[in-house]
Amino acid sequence: MEVIIQPNQEAAAGLAARIVARELRSNPNLVLGLATGQTMERVYRHLVRLHQDEKLDFSLCRTFNLDEYVGLFPSDPNSYRHYMEHHLFRHVNVDRRNTYLPNGLATDLDEECRRYEATIERFGGIDLQLLGIGKAGHIGFNEPLSALRSRTRVKALTPTTLRQNAPLFGGEDKMPRRAITMGVGTILECRRCLLLATGSSKAEVVAKAVEGPITSMISATALQLHRRCTVIVDEDAASKLAERDYYRWIFANEPEWEEYR
Ligand code: F6R
Repeated sequence: MEVIIQPNQEAAAGLAARIVARELRSNPNLVLGLATGQTMERVYRHLVRLHQDEKLDFSLCRTFNLDEYVGLFPSDPNSYRHYMEHHLFRHVNVDRRNTYLPNGLATDLDEECRRYEATIERFGGIDLQLLGIGKAGHIGFNEPLSALRSRTRVKALTPTTLRQNAPLFGGEDKMPRRAITMGVGTILECRRCLLLATGSSKAEVVAKAVEGPITSMISATALQLHRRCTVIVDEDAASKLAERDYYRWIFANEPEWEEYR
């Protein structure tokens, strides 16, 4: 794992977008894993700007989202398909036929999960997966006790997640209770992972995810097993990390990060 600390939310999201842009430029056929949530909105704003100002080309890439609520129509403003349309797809030149999200309306949800995994495999796996982190440490909707080898499946959302996302639905009672999510095992197979966390509300869970013991109670800790995982945080989200100085030193000295400093 590498941890990069940026001065604020904007700089952290900008850096995440630049890493995505670099991967996309070096491989226009990139298979890009996407996440939703408030943290990612800034990243998508940066990517849209890079498309508009620097002609960042999405025409050949494929995208796979981590998750989707069960029971919401794509047109529902709270569906993740709608989120992606609103924040990214309609502003860039991605081909909609190359954009994949789990279908939360499928009559056979287990079959849909298997189909999603098979589709990812058909395109050779995910090259770069964007990740946020929930307050209870989930990546995707891999809630506490998600098996570290889990695959795409239906998960019940925990009270913490329901509370976290309820404001968007106008109350917890209006929220779907389940979602389809890529598993922790699915995420660990992505060739590169990029986790972005900002704000003081994430400080505690970031410290646990990065410096704590690996546990299925906090699915983000599984990323410690990944060969190539970059964690980008702003100062607020970094505030509870014990080894901040060490991470800063690495970022300042590793040649790989020169172009991003
Ligand atoms: C969403 C997802 C979630 C979010 C996480 C953080 O696709 O996979 O894991 O990334 O809940 O959400 P925000 O950024 O809203 O705090």
